[in-house]
Amino acid sequence: MKRAIRSLVFVASLTGVIACGGKKETNSEEYVANESKSVAQGSSDLIAQGEALVKASDCKTCHHVTNKIIGPSHTEVAKIYDFTEPNVKMLAEKIMKGGSGVWGQVPMAAHADLSQDDAEKMARYVLSLDGEKEH
Ligand code: HEC
Repeated sequence: MKRAIRSLVFVASLTGVIACGGKKETNSEEYVANESKSVAQGSSDLIAQGEALVKASDCKTCHHVTNKIIGPSHTEVAKIYDFTEPNVKMLAEKIMKGGSGVWGQVPMAAHADLSQDDAEKMARYVLSLDGEKEH
């Protein structure tokens, strides 16, 4: 994640060079300032980490952000649950242990190698997809 941010900053400063020569420094500083503002909001940082974890895991074999594949789309999941701490824990539990019967008869495989922390970050990311903030 850090590396991605750094390369974004790099691209941003490159664009600055091409777009308006001398103003390079100002542009990249503004970008870094915006970025650290959003990282300072703890919850959105956890969501960003959750997104990276979901993308690096096997979730995408069965889940698409907006379309049903084998499992429900993660946006549909976000819509039926409130973004609350108990739901984060409940979905984290399902991600780790697997689940069935909520969306149909196809079960979700367990992810026994995930830590509680990582599973909760993934759950936060999923719950954020309908635009709801944690409350
Ligand atoms: C083998 C296919 C498969 C994989 C891989 C998979 N899922 Fe699922 N997932 C499902 C199915 C099927 C359901 C619906 C289960 C049900 O009806 O209760 C589901 C349900 C869910 C739900 C909603 C649970 C509920 O009770 O409403 C969440 C959240 C979820 N998956 C997240 C993930 C995440 C995050 C990953 C990656 C770590 C993942 N899934 C990997 C198939 C999968």
